Amino acid sequence: MTELTLQKDAALAAIADAASLEALDEQRVAALGKKGWVSLALKTLGQMSPEQRQEAAPAIQAVRAEIASAIEAKKAALEAAELESQLASETLDLTLPAPVRPQGSVHPVSQVMDELAEIFADLGFAVATGPEIEDDWHNFTALNMDESHPARAMHDTFYFPDAVPDGGQPASSSEALGQKKMLLRTHTSPVQIRSMKEQGAPIRLIAPGRVYRSDSDATHTPMFHQVEGLVVDRDIHLGHLKWTLETFFKAFFEREDITLRLRPSYFPFTEPSVEVDVGYSNEGNRRVVGGHGDAEGHDWMELGGSGMVNRRVLEMAGVDPDEYQGFAFGLGIDRIAMLKYGMNDLRAFFDGDPRWLSHYGFGAVDQPTLSAGVGAPS
Ligand code: DAH
Repeated sequence: MTELTLQKDAALAAIADAASLEALDEQRVAALGKKGWVSLALKTLGQMSPEQRQEAAPAIQAVRAEIASAIEAKKAALEAAELESQLASETLDLTLPAPVRPQGSVHPVSQVMDELAEIFADLGFAVATGPEIEDDWHNFTALNMDESHPARAMHDTFYFPDAVPDGGQPASSSEALGQKKMLLRTHTSPVQIRSMKEQGAPIRLIAPGRVYRSDSDATHTPMFHQVEGLVVDRDIHLGHLKWTLETFFKAFFEREDITLRLRPSYFPFTEPSVEVDVGYSNEGNRRVVGGHGDAEGHDWMELGGSGMVNRRVLEMAGVDPDEYQGFAFGLGIDRIAMLKYGMNDLRAFFDGDPRWLSHYGFGAVDQPTLSAGVGAPS
């Protein structure tokens, strides 16, 4: 019995000294484990006489209970101490900025708008904007489409209900009258008028933005994106237009073998007018631009319209057409994005599907630069 008491005292001292949960567990195994000294002591009961056993059994059980509860108490104390030290060392500084977790992505349309701005800025163009809720005069009349002009019908315009003229007085000029009629702009061309009226000539700008038409199928959505270009200066001619578009498309698609085709066309606000096509081929199910012309398996995609600014438009915007000439163009941003980045369905652009966005989107820190390649994917 004395031996058991000695073992017990030694074990209680070791338990009290245990500095970690691991050290404590070693003590538990040494005492209460299968081959621990308490277990071995319990096994000796079998060889004892009934009288001896009656005396020894409660004593050994008492030691066992004492050791077990000492271990339990020490375990709780060690766990509490561990939590304390964790709380003391792991501080959370709520004044720090949030960790940067890249979430979301830059939509290809936004990316292409940044690419456009980068390329045209290098050519000396400023970026201009105008309102999406536009008036009839800027959207049509000033662009040489007066009220009876048949070209208006092609535009599938979203009109707002008529506004009442101020004070109920009939407006006098056609500009004042037109400004009362509001609509969602059908193209970015009204920004030409607003910019010329504000800044006069010479002028060199692009105007990217949303435009609206009542039209919807696989290749048309009621809202889409255009970029307008306008250069007005002395002695501007069609050669400047062609060089500018070619230079732009070579930089945009990052290849030299771009073939552009200018087809004679008609727009009320340009004279002469041309439509701009780019050559492409189908590789796999992907459209690839460049160097294809009319050869077999290759085709042309229409990217927009352009021409020399009609002198009536310059006049209406307050620029003297005898002193200044200009060229203008309007390109579909969604289309050139599809061609460059290989999407097939325009409607997916505006579905907001996170899988599409994470596949086709760009990292927020990947700003397009001419030196790094305008469209460097993330
Ligand atoms: N505004 C025209 C459209 O939306 C496109 C266009 C054609 C713009 C010729 C121009 C241009 O600046 O010169 O269909």
